[in-house]
Amino acid sequence: MSIRFIKDKKRFVINTKHTTYAFEVVLDHYLYHIYYGKRISNVPDPVFTFLSFAPHVKECNESKSPDLFPQEFSCYGAGDYRPNSLRLSADGTGVCDFVYHSYRIFKGRLDLDGFPAARADEHTQTLEVTLLDEGCHCRLKLYYTVFADLDIISRYMTVENLGDTSVKIEKCMPLTLDMLRSDFDMISFYGSHFNEMHFQRVPLHHGTQSVYSNRGASSPHYNPFIALCSHNATEERGEVYGFNFVYSGSFLDEVDVDQQSRVRVQIGLGSESFSYSIDAGETFCSPEAVMTYSPTGIGKMTRNFHNFIRTHIMPPASLQPHPVVLNTWEACYFNIDEAKLLDFAKEAKKTGFDMLVMDDGWFGARNHDHAGLGDWYENRTKFPDGLASFVRKVKAEGIQFGIWVEPEMVNPDSDLFRSHPDWALQTVGREPLLSRHQLVLDMSNPQVLEYLMKQFDETFRGIEIDYFKWDMNRHMAHVGSMHLPSDKQGEIFFRYMKGVYRLLDWFRDHFPGAVIETCSGGGGRYDLGMMQYGIQIWASDNTDPYYRTRIQASALMGYPAATMSCHVSNPKESLASLDYRYKVAVGGMLGYELNILKMSDEIKSEMAKQIAEYKTFEHVIRLGDYYNLAFPTKYPYSAYYYATSDRTEILLTVIEKYQCPQGQTKRLKIKAANPGATYVDARTGKQYSGASLKEGIVIDLTGEPMSAHLFHLKAL
Ligand code: DGJ
Repeated sequence: MSIRFIKDKKRFVINTKHTTYAFEVVLDHYLYHIYYGKRISNVPDPVFTFLSFAPHVKECNESKSPDLFPQEFSCYGAGDYRPNSLRLSADGTGVCDFVYHSYRIFKGRLDLDGFPAARADEHTQTLEVTLLDEGCHCRLKLYYTVFADLDIISRYMTVENLGDTSVKIEKCMPLTLDMLRSDFDMISFYGSHFNEMHFQRVPLHHGTQSVYSNRGASSPHYNPFIALCSHNATEERGEVYGFNFVYSGSFLDEVDVDQQSRVRVQIGLGSESFSYSIDAGETFCSPEAVMTYSPTGIGKMTRNFHNFIRTHIMPPASLQPHPVVLNTWEACYFNIDEAKLLDFAKEAKKTGFDMLVMDDGWFGARNHDHAGLGDWYENRTKFPDGLASFVRKVKAEGIQFGIWVEPEMVNPDSDLFRSHPDWALQTVGREPLLSRHQLVLDMSNPQVLEYLMKQFDETFRGIEIDYFKWDMNRHMAHVGSMHLPSDKQGEIFFRYMKGVYRLLDWFRDHFPGAVIETCSGGGGRYDLGMMQYGIQIWASDNTDPYYRTRIQASALMGYPAATMSCHVSNPKESLASLDYRYKVAVGGMLGYELNILKMSDEIKSEMAKQIAEYKTFEHVIRLGDYYNLAFPTKYPYSAYYYATSDRTEILLTVIEKYQCPQGQTKRLKIKAANPGATYVDARTGKQYSGASLKEGIVIDLTGEPMSAHLFHLKAL
C-alpha cells in the first residue's frame, strides 16, 4: 500500500518509490503537514510554536499557532494569515474553518466532474480526507491520488453544500505545501506570444512571489509549471520540488515565505478571475494539481514529469508514432484553394510526409483574419466541390488529412455573430474589446456548445479527418455572459473552461479516428489540461531556430518531447539553413511549414532524407528519457540527449547559437550510456564504447552560423 493511516498518531503516510509525504490530524481539527521529501521510514513528530498576535481556537492552548504550523490546507479568516487555500462562506465574509472528520483510502480514483485529470492504472491509489465546517454547512474533501512508481502525487478538492442557501467560493487552491524552510530558488517561465518560455531562476524572498494568468487561458505569459530547488541544485544534484496544474484557464501559482522564513506553495484557481456559488445540495469540484520531488537534481524531476505526462495525461495515441505533417499556414496563410492544396498533397506524398494539415482559411468568408470565425462550413469559392470531395482527393494521393479549427472564437463579421450577437462574451453598455478582430464565444452557455457540436457534425460528417489542429487566438476581456444571472458572472472563467473541455470531449468521442493538436497562437496553452486531449501542442508561432532552441529547452524541463510540435519553416533555399532547422526541430515532433511548391528539387530531396531519417529515431525522442547537458540561456550552445529505457539508442543534439565561439572543444558526458555496450553512430558509422560515452563525447564547436551536430547512437 502506498497510502497508510497510522491510527494511534492519526497520521497519514504516503510512500512513492523514492519519496515520502506525511501529515497528521492535530487538535482533532487541523491537518499538520509533517514531511515531503526523499523516502524515509521514520516520520518525525510535529513541532509547535506559539506567537502572540495569532488568534487561535481554544484547543491551541496558547502553545500552538495555526498561523505558524505547516498545514495541508488553510482556511481564510481562521487564524492563518498566510495565503489561504480556500475562501468560502454563505454570509459574504469568506470566513471558513474546516475541521477534520474522517478519511478513506481506495484503489483508482474518482472522476473530476468534467475536468481533465491523470488517468489511473491498476497501481493508482487515492486518499480522501473529509473535513466539515458547521459554520457554513459544507463538507470539504481533499483528494491525494498517488502514482507511486512515478513519484507523483496529485491533489484536488470538492466542496459539498449541505445547507439550504448557496455558499460562495472566492479562492480555491487545491494544492498547498508548507515546509519549515525556504532556502530554495524558484524556477518559472515567462514570455509572450511569439516569444514564449523564458527560463527564470531566482532565490525565494520574504513575501509572496507568484506566476499567474487572469487571461482565460493558461497563456504564454507565465506557464503553470514551476519548481523549487535548493540553491546548489543542478541537473544531477540537489533537491527539487516540481508542481503543475491540470488546467488550461486562469490560474495562480503562489509561493510565500512567511515571518519565520517558512515556505508555502499553492497551485490553483486563485481568486482574481475565479469565484463560484455552490447551490444548496450541489458539489463543487476543483481541477487537480500535481507535484513531484527529486533528491537528485532538476533532471530527475523533469523525467518524473515526462514519464507521468506520457502515461497518465496524454492520450494513448500519443504513445504511437506522430505523423510528420506539412502545415499550410506559413506557406499560404489564408490564400488556399483546392487546386493548390492538391498540388501540396502530391508533393508532400512524394517527399515522404504522412499528412497534409490545412490550416486557417478554408471556411466561411475567411480570406483574412477580419471575418469568418464561427462559420464552420467550407468556402465554396475555394472548394467548389465541397470539403468531402476535396478530402477524398487528398486521400487518393495516399496521404492523411488534418484540418484547422478555432471553435471558441467568432468574428463580428460572421453569419454566426450576426444571428447570435449575445453568444459572445461581453458586458452590457460597453463596446466589446477586439483582439485579432475577434470575440470570444461564451463557452459557459450550453446553447453555444450545442450549436458548435451540431455545426461541426454537419460539416465533417462522413469525412475522414485524421487530425484537428485546435487553435485559440485571443485572451478574454469584458468577461460577461448574456446567459448567466448577475450573481454568477464571476464564474465565467471557470465555466468557460468546463465548456471547452466538454467540446474537446465531444470532438474526441465523435471523431474517434482523429487525433488533436492543440495550439493557442503557438504556446499560449502549453499546459497539462490541453495535453490530455492533444497528441502534441504547437509550441510557438516563432519558427526561427534560434528562438525555438530556447523555447524548446525550457518546455522540456516540465513537459516531454512528445507534447511539442516543432516545424521546419522556410529554409530560404539554403541547405545549411534546412539542416540547422531540422536539427532544432527534431528536439520534438517534427513537421514542416513551408511552400513545398516553391522548393527546389535539391531542397525537396534533402527534406525527404530528413523525414526518412527522423522516422528511424522518432521513438527515441517521443518515448526516451531526456537529459539536458547545456541550457541555451547559460551556454552559447544547447546540448541534450534522449536515451531509450533499455539504453540501446541515444540521440544526442548540439545546437550552436549564432554567437557561439569558434574552435572550442566540449566533452559531453552521456551518463545514460550502457558502459558495456558498443554504439555506432547511424549517421557516420563511427563507433564509441559506452564507457567512453559516459566519460564524454568530444564535440568541436565550429562557431559557424547555423551549425548543429546530431548523433544517432545505436548499441551493436
Ligand atoms: C495561430 C497559430 O499559432 C498558427 O499556427 C496558425 O494556425 C494561425 N493561428 C492561423 O490563424
